[in-house]
Amino acid sequence: MCGIIGYIGKECSANKIVLEGLKRLEYRGYDSVGVAAVDVQKRLVIKKDVGKIEEVHEKLNLLEPSSKITLGHCRWATHGAPTRENAHPHIDCKGNVAVVHNGVIENFLELKEELLEKGHRFASRTDTEVVAHLVEEGLDSGESLYNATVNALRRLKGSYALAIISTMEPDKIVCARNESPLVIGLSENSAFCASDIPAILPYTNKVIVLNNGEVAVLEAGKVEIKRVSDNMPVSREAKVIEWTIEQAEKQGYAHFMLKEIHEQPTSLRNALRLQEQYLDLITTFLDRGDKIFLLAAGTSHYACIAASYMFSKLARLATYPVISSEFIENYGDSLGIDTVVLAVSQSGETYDTLKAVDYARMKAATILGITNVVGSTLTRISRAYIVQQSGPEIGVAATKSYTAQLIVLAQLALKLAKIRGKLSQDEIDELKTNLYNIPDIVENILEKREEKVKEIAKKYAKENLFIFLGRGISTATALEGRLKLLEISYTPSLAYPAGESKHGPISVIEEGTPTIFICPNDETRKEIIGNIMEMKARGAKIISVCEEDDQKIKNLSDDIIEMPKQIHPILTPIPYIIPLQLLAYYIAVERGLDPDKPRNLAKSVTVP
Ligand code: AGP
Repeated sequence: MCGIIGYIGKECSANKIVLEGLKRLEYRGYDSVGVAAVDVQKRLVIKKDVGKIEEVHEKLNLLEPSSKITLGHCRWATHGAPTRENAHPHIDCKGNVAVVHNGVIENFLELKEELLEKGHRFASRTDTEVVAHLVEEGLDSGESLYNATVNALRRLKGSYALAIISTMEPDKIVCARNESPLVIGLSENSAFCASDIPAILPYTNKVIVLNNGEVAVLEAGKVEIKRVSDNMPVSREAKVIEWTIEQAEKQGYAHFMLKEIHEQPTSLRNALRLQEQYLDLITTFLDRGDKIFLLAAGTSHYACIAASYMFSKLARLATYPVISSEFIENYGDSLGIDTVVLAVSQSGETYDTLKAVDYARMKAATILGITNVVGSTLTRISRAYIVQQSGPEIGVAATKSYTAQLIVLAQLALKLAKIRGKLSQDEIDELKTNLYNIPDIVENILEKREEKVKEIAKKYAKENLFIFLGRGISTATALEGRLKLLEISYTPSLAYPAGESKHGPISVIEEGTPTIFICPNDETRKEIIGNIMEMKARGAKIISVCEEDDQKIKNLSDDIIEMPKQIHPILTPIPYIIPLQLLAYYIAVERGLDPDKPRNLAKSVTVP
């Protein structure tokens, strides 16, 4: 998992642009960073080291040398530990070729062996370095940079977004894509390539998304795209991206995560403005399915768990939420032409999800997608898809993308209920009114409850174990609340359906263990009160997220976070997760951690 960027222009400002772009890509990886530039004397200058971008820049001054062509890379190690040697860019034996890469070259060991036998010298333990030496082979035999790159690409197995430069042709960047995202940006006098759009948006909003199996030659103000397999030219118009740069920056919040939590009223409103025809199409496919799987990883999986309750309760349709990495093993043999797979992925690039989707496609299943990224792999391999319109999410912890997924899934459940004739028109109208109120409700919670959550975070920040419990659809909220806390504050936490307590987990409760109950006023309320009593009797500190004026739950709780009344039970996962996102955020901040850059994690996991 890494971020790559390349820039070529007519002015000597390449390093500055690449450095700025790297800062916007840092969420993709931040264990090491590096740049490669061809200086005015046409020498290749490499600067790289372990550490975050600012640290490495302070040490090495990444703004120099003055150059018109530069590549940059921020790394999240996959092959080879985070060391200076393994940091990108990687070079060939002569120091004429530089390569940056995001992905995994699966056959690098055999290629490396072959290249070692030919006398190449390797400086790193990465899979990427073979690419520099393969290109060197081609250049040595008189090929152009383009041909040497294409011949190298044809030998690679695995995933890559690659950008390559050479001192022999210092007016070109050759870049290519296979299963790792890569976009190209164009302006009058320059050209860019990058792992995602925000990295280049300050400089251009004209963007071309490169497809798998394509290679592009970038020159100042010019791009030429071809297919790697047969060198056939590809003609694709640049799209004009409407995002503003501000959308991709922090807007005065201390962290992207907090900014993104606060963006939820807007992102929810956007997700309610989806085109009906796409919702109708997906609903029709879901209705035709014999077996329906909801496929996702992490937070997106928890959205699918909530969705399975929505589909069942509203449309009387049984669906199976499955963790992507378990899908093939668990259900692979049962798939067929009547299977429908609805894959949910914020990035649309999660390796586990795409692998499972590929398998299901091979078994003739119908693939549907929900994602936040236009042009992502998921959008290209789905029969029909919905883009949830959350805007770029920079914080590693998914927040606004989760609630947007939920509201998209709720719309699908509602439509499905309608076409299956499972709800009366009055019920549908009432639910629709409720649905369209959700962004205002979330806005209200953010305005009124943030201070209370901050207080609770302060009080419990030093605890070393948290328990999250919910019943019914709130199980999803408990699981997602736990994941938020776990991933950014590193606090060991448990979450499970509250009814499971007495089957084992209750034994971990000690005097003072903070136990968070998600208890909306739905059909599970009576039973969850029983669970609160069980925990209280064993000394747990009870923190309840419940409806305002729920006196009974208030009386049993040490701390409460009050939610507005009259939220339809099926929609409670959306507002009820907001205080838990804030709780995780403020506990991480109290502990002195950076919630945007949790250790060992990356925003989108595009490797096995
Ligand atoms: C969420 O906070 C995570 N960091 C992570 O679990 C994420 O949801 C998961 O990797 C799936 O990503 P996707 O939605 O882009 O497929």
